[in-house]
Amino acid sequence: MTAAGVSAKSVALTAPLHAYLVQSGSPPDALLIELARRTQDLMPDHAHMVIAPEEGALLTFLVRLTGAHTVLEVGTFTGYSSLCLARGLADGGRLITCDVSQEWTAVAREFWARAGVEDRVELRIGPATDTLRALPPDPFVDLAFIDADKPGYIDYWEQIVPRVRPGGLIVVDNTLFSSEVLDADAGEKPAAIRRFNAHASADARVELVMLAVADGMTLARRL
Ligand SMILES: C[S@@+](CC[C@H](N)C(=O)[O-])C[C@H]1O[C@@H](n2cnc3c(N)ncnc32)[C@H](O)[C@@H]1O
Repeated sequence: MTAAGVSAKSVALTAPLHAYLVQSGSPPDALLIELARRTQDLMPDHAHMVIAPEEGALLTFLVRLTGAHTVLEVGTFTGYSSLCLARGLADGGRLITCDVSQEWTAVAREFWARAGVEDRVELRIGPATDTLRALPPDPFVDLAFIDADKPGYIDYWEQIVPRVRPGGLIVVDNTLFSSEVLDADAGEKPAAIRRFNAHASADARVELVMLAVADGMTLARRL
């Protein structure tokens, strides 16, 4: 029990326990493993940006669970999360994914093609704020995933919430930010996440839970 009188049950994931968790859930297939390795080889300084395998499995699961037809992603990078999202879509579904980098998303395009999902993925290159503002204002999105620059999160949220249909889901990555979210001196990115978390949890348009999955994931259901 914590001082606040709630249970503080949680498991610190050692490397072997993490490997066990990934293998016992829905482990990444050969293509996802190749994509993660290719990203590491081509962009060793940026490869840490790829979501964790258990997050990828969760994204596919959530798209299938919700029966999402239209999915929106902010932050494509080399395509790991977009591939997981696209694979969850039913026939006729589509994923709109946004990034600023032609170079990084070229890798994504290759892997979408190899996975046979390229026909359901629309890549929009440009600042996500502009891309999101240009989308129809109506609630046409079933599920959204936010995983781009952290200072932009509140703006992305404000653009996305009205476009998600009632009952739809918004998933946000890095909401614990390597535990630095609690550290007032940790710098701009964790501070941006702290501001985002306060903003989202006070938003009456959604009900929201935070999960200690990987770097922290927030799930918000549009009311
Ligand atoms: C954490 S990575 C995304 C990782 C990806 N979801 C995956 O699983 O591999 C963040 C991405 O956001 C993109 N990004 C950064 N600022 C952006 C902006 N203003 N608009 C759109 N994309 C942006 C970066 O180019 C980068 O590819």
